[in-house]
Amino acid sequence: MSLDNWYDTPLYYDIIFAEDTAREADFLEAMMRRHARLAGARRPPWRVLEPAAGSGRLVAELSARGHDVSGFDINANMLAHARERLNRDGLHAILWKDSMEAFKIPSRFGFDLAHCLVSTFKYLLTEDHAVAHLNRVARALRVGGLYVLGLHLTDYHQRKPDHERWVGRRGGIKVTCNTHTWPAHRRRRREAMRTRLQVTRHGRTHFQETRWEFRTYNAEELKGLLNKVPAFKCVACHDFTYAPEDPRSLDDAYSDLILVLRKESGMRTEK
Ligand SMILES: C[S@@+](CC[C@H](N)C(=O)[O-])C[C@H]1O[C@@H](n2cnc3c(N)ncnc32)[C@H](O)[C@@H]1O
Repeated sequence: MSLDNWYDTPLYYDIIFAEDTAREADFLEAMMRRHARLAGARRPPWRVLEPAAGSGRLVAELSARGHDVSGFDINANMLAHARERLNRDGLHAILWKDSMEAFKIPSRFGFDLAHCLVSTFKYLLTEDHAVAHLNRVARALRVGGLYVLGLHLTDYHQRKPDHERWVGRRGGIKVTCNTHTWPAHRRRRREAMRTRLQVTRHGRTHFQETRWEFRTYNAEELKGLLNKVPAFKCVACHDFTYAPEDPRSLDDAYSDLILVLRKESGMRTEK
């Protein structure tokens, strides 16, 4: 078993997460049609920003649908994988290395949509970084544009570890991913997770393990955070079923949550 950062092997990440990509992109487009209030009733294609864009699965999908996509990530391997995929598929997007807490936008124009799904936001381990990130995204958006943010809420009453298992296949490669999340530490607002990958590639199997730490949120903590970022109004809540017709409320009744945040005020646009 090797101790790795899973994100240093973007192909294995991509194999596990590929299945949901088209559904997530459909959902993002549906949220824009329903909730964006852009001046001049701006229609697609939209200018899209993905903080922590990873292997580029959604960058490529949205670019293939005609949107004008930009994204950044802190991991150089992820960025290289995303660029290769765009080249291979004859697609274009602007990608650069940057961090969620302090990123700069290499463009003078505002985005219509930003999105950050699958709990990536919880890598921001302090409240200051979370607020800084949300303010930066708000500055990058045009008034009336959306930030669609997906994350797992924490149940602080849970006493037992949580397990999840996914299996993905591509070509001659099979990836099995087992996650183990320990009960959260409420005062520190942290939860620890372990990911174990079993990768069988053309008949040979190896194992790799990654340890992660996330900031935790329940519904009240999330509302408290949003109150610190007045540029955004929460205009809808959904969950990881990505069903546009089935909105939820922002409470602790279910653990997966997608916030649809709309930029309401005219902040300075990030340069
Ligand atoms: C779960 S993946 C999500 C990738 C992509 N958004 C998707 O939906 O497939 C998390 C990504 O966040 C990146 N990441 C983690 N912390 C980051 C940070 N502070 N700033 C920028 N990227 C970060 C990792 O390198 C990884 O590519």
